[in-house]
Amino acid sequence: MNSYETLPDQLSTYVNKWKPKKGSLVMILHAVQDYYGFVPKEICFVLAKELKVPLARIYEVLTFYHYFRLELPAKYRIAVCMGTACYLKGAPDNLDAIKENLNIPEGRATEDGLFTLEIVRCYGCCGLAPVMSINGKIYGKLDKKKSLGILDEYRQKETDS
Ligand code: FES
Repeated sequence: MNSYETLPDQLSTYVNKWKPKKGSLVMILHAVQDYYGFVPKEICFVLAKELKVPLARIYEVLTFYHYFRLELPAKYRIAVCMGTACYLKGAPDNLDAIKENLNIPEGRATEDGLFTLEIVRCYGCCGLAPVMSINGKIYGKLDKKKSLGILDEYRQKETDS
């Protein structure tokens, strides 16, 4: 049995306290995310049973609020700018190379939990186009080689630590 198949005591107490109250589902999902860092799907099954709400209703809430995460956040969050300046200076090629290198589409995390990949629209530093950021650190004047070199630096950092 993995650790997501039952509610830990802390969450169980919270759920029992809140479940009789109307509109408690969002509060409970917040508590779940605070506890795990995301909302595990196994916990959604447990909640559906505990709260007597359809699983579809839980997912409706989870997908409506962008705040909720359905996967464990990766250690490094890559955000590739696809704003106009970056786009015109080669961002699509960089993005394709990064996707291929990580073997994930946008919006997903790598299997090792190291990287997530997302798209942003303009960082406001178009003079550095094309741009990407990793955990908020901006990298500019990118081409495919430089982008992949940066990913390797992060991987190297992991093997050194
Ligand atoms: S378009 Fe990429 S930083 Fe402005």
